[in-house]
Amino acid sequence: MMALRELLAVAGQPEVLRYWEQLSDDERRLLAAELEPLEPRELRAHCEEAARARARHTAPRDRLMEPLPGEAIGSSIRTEAEILRRWKERGFHEISQNQVAVLLLAGGQGTRLGVPYPKGMYDVGLPSGKTLYQIQAERIRKVQQLAEERVGRQCTVPWYIMTSEFTLEPTQKFFTQHNYFGLVKSNVVMFEQRMLPAVDFNGKIILEQKGRIAMAPDGNGGLYRALTNNKILEDMDRRRIRFVHVYCVDNILVKMADPVFIGFCVEKGADCGAKVVEKAYPTEPVGVVCRVDGIYQVVEYSEVSQETVEQRNTDGRLTFNAGNICNHFFTVEFLKSVTEEFEPQLKPHVAVKKIPHIDEKGNIVKPETPNGIKMEKFVFDVFQFSKKFVVFEVLREDEFSPLKNADNAGSKDTPSTARRALLWQHYRWAVQAGAQFLDHKNNRISPLNQFQEAEEPPAVCEISPLVSCEGEGLEEYLKDREFHSPLLLTEKTVAALG
Ligand code: UD1
Repeated sequence: MMALRELLAVAGQPEVLRYWEQLSDDERRLLAAELEPLEPRELRAHCEEAARARARHTAPRDRLMEPLPGEAIGSSIRTEAEILRRWKERGFHEISQNQVAVLLLAGGQGTRLGVPYPKGMYDVGLPSGKTLYQIQAERIRKVQQLAEERVGRQCTVPWYIMTSEFTLEPTQKFFTQHNYFGLVKSNVVMFEQRMLPAVDFNGKIILEQKGRIAMAPDGNGGLYRALTNNKILEDMDRRRIRFVHVYCVDNILVKMADPVFIGFCVEKGADCGAKVVEKAYPTEPVGVVCRVDGIYQVVEYSEVSQETVEQRNTDGRLTFNAGNICNHFFTVEFLKSVTEEFEPQLKPHVAVKKIPHIDEKGNIVKPETPNGIKMEKFVFDVFQFSKKFVVFEVLREDEFSPLKNADNAGSKDTPSTARRALLWQHYRWAVQAGAQFLDHKNNRISPLNQFQEAEEPPAVCEISPLVSCEGEGLEEYLKDREFHSPLLLTEKTVAALG
């Protein structure tokens, strides 16, 4: 208790204990457990900085923004097949040498989707009923298998999963319940990021209950602190990992350890890279990769003016159209330089939010206007420290359909759009591999290659990642064969077809 009082005195937050006398032993223990990991002087600085940042009018960076120079962008769309093949083989080579890991950012609260469990556990309604976690796990298994086929020995792509207080326990339980989706448990490494208190506009910690602080994860840029605190880079060193593919949980089309992207970055000698897609519409909530004052950066959608996002070139295309899909490449060397040297220089971003809290009398209030500040670091803010930064442009319909919002009328990036994007992709693969689909009267459905996110594909076809990662190897099962919709291709069903 003394220690706690002292910690809060140094932090300038003694009021946090104002209901201490009314708390049960359990509540006291929980409150202490939230506070004890925080260094008091850092906590003080955090609260003061939050209040200052709110008061400060942040100068818009818009006028310093410049679009990416064309030559800085590699592309999976406008590159000859031969070169793409070379990058892919280079990527598979690194994977087969067990030098590549994937790292999932899964500490977010998923507030917009509004489910009380981690987003990775979400089932968007595919015929297989698979969740995002399962799809990702199976894609790792397939990439490992494809690398193994190339070299004739076992290959491992370890999966690091950053969670937070909200997501660690349910994620662990879910993986155990599902037997790690067929992955080797010791190759799935979960670790937790820090939580920080939300503060009010006067820099005072907000209590959401008498004995509970309104805490939030410190942003996906909390990754770098979490890597240090959990000795993750040491784990990578032990496994001789050199390259890491970092990605966020909600993109149903994510290519795990994408060999083309890895190969491209490695061949270019990059220490840091980002995948982008062309923005779909000016106000799409994606960051834009650009240069600010000559330095490569992502400017987040929440921090750019309407005027800038609407800006167009003479050919009608958006000037800032390199949409960040939160798929990053880092060398382990670069991550070491960040954790050892640059992390303290990362500036937190301020989010002004409506944060439920208790009033003077101890009643819980759900505010209608913003009342508090959350401070978050962003994963991409380290790009500025890169010595060789590359951008890789990919096709949206192949690689990006994020799950952000619930299925309300007019919403974008919902379970329905994610499900349809995946089913369209698999339908296209099946048609390209020569499958014919029949309607209920046994008439052939004429193939449609035009992806339209708002519409269901002409036939439902879901292909397990364990059968095909990106449409490869399907002819053997599908060519010149007729199928009724829905077609579910799993390892079992293809065994019967092959
Ligand atoms: C993010 C990107 C945005 C990009 C968009 C693409 C950042 C800061 N923003 O925006 O530029 O265009 O995805 O979909 O990267 N997370 C944590 N810990 C946290 C907060 C978030 O691990 O404290 C994870 C989430 O679980 C998620 C990812 O980071 O996997 C992205 O977080 P989210 O808040 O959904 O970012 P967006 O605002 O959608």
